[in-house]
Amino acid sequence: ALVTSLEGQPQLREVSGIPLQASTVDNWSQIQNFEAKPDDLLICTYPKSGTTWIQEIVDMIEQNGDVEKCQRAIIQHRHPFIEWARPPQPSVLVLCRRFFLVYFKGVEKAKVMPSPRILRTHLPTQLLPLSFWKNNCKFLYVARNAKDCMVSYYHFQRMNKILPDPGTWEEYFETFISGKVAWGSWYDHVKGWWDIKDRYQVLFLFYEDIKRDPKHEIQKVMQFMGKNLDETVLDKIVQETSFEKMKENPMTNRSTVPKSILDQSISPFMRKGTVGDWKNHFTVAQNERFDEIYRQKMEGTSINFFTEL
Ligand code: A3P
Repeated sequence: ALVTSLEGQPQLREVSGIPLQASTVDNWSQIQNFEAKPDDLLICTYPKSGTTWIQEIVDMIEQNGDVEKCQRAIIQHRHPFIEWARPPQPSVLVLCRRFFLVYFKGVEKAKVMPSPRILRTHLPTQLLPLSFWKNNCKFLYVARNAKDCMVSYYHFQRMNKILPDPGTWEEYFETFISGKVAWGSWYDHVKGWWDIKDRYQVLFLFYEDIKRDPKHEIQKVMQFMGKNLDETVLDKIVQETSFEKMKENPMTNRSTVPKSILDQSISPFMRKGTVGDWKNHFTVAQNERFDEIYRQKMEGTSINFFTEL
């Protein structure tokens, strides 16, 4: 509480026009110079697109469906978050002392992690450390339709005390569309990763597809990771990574994060986990305006999203 109150209202700062957390910007040269390795797998998402979900899926595959191994640490600490550079609060340090105690920066955690490493980022393609391209790393991108993503980000910013207060829903609607949120414009992020997907080793997945047919999408991830698991293990992974299970799981539901950082009494981290919640937020006028702006911003791209199932 002391740290946040001393810092006041969190501010974002920009790198090449992309708003990022101040701690990330302060450490930018170290992040830019991060040395990727050829056998790294990087989980890439725009915020609120199912990062935690795909992380749990990837870890379950990596651990051959062993639930106990996936309980070794909270999900935020299993896959180093490369642009993360915020010092943890003392209470968080105590909770994660078994894992990477002395390293709080994502790049430092990644450096001491044994290969093959699984890392994660929210960075748009143009800000990704160049070594990831040079080493032809594997990228696993998960995209979520913009409307649900906006709703999820709005509720996340309400409860997340280290991101700016989102204001009213009407205000946030404009903020999101204009890309003045942490990690920048949803449109540019998704287009950027979609555009490079055939030139690099990219598995491009959609939140809506995982929701509709989790086993099928999990199988794709398994193949991409070069693993081969039995049907029974796959079925177990489907069960263990369901929204209901992950909402109850203290290693995935962020319940160990202090209230001064994530106030889950305002909105739970595992909030709804559905496709189409935007219908409970968008007015008819907002929806029309959104669709028009979407058409303009996404003109010329072949990417298609489901906004309901
Ligand atoms: P909602 O706010 O719409 O509920 P991220 O991990 O990238 O921050 O994304 C968080 C969003 O993914 C939240 O969306 C959260 O509920 C959802 N989510 C997390 N685990 C999920 C799961 N197992 N199944 C479906 N959605 C999940």
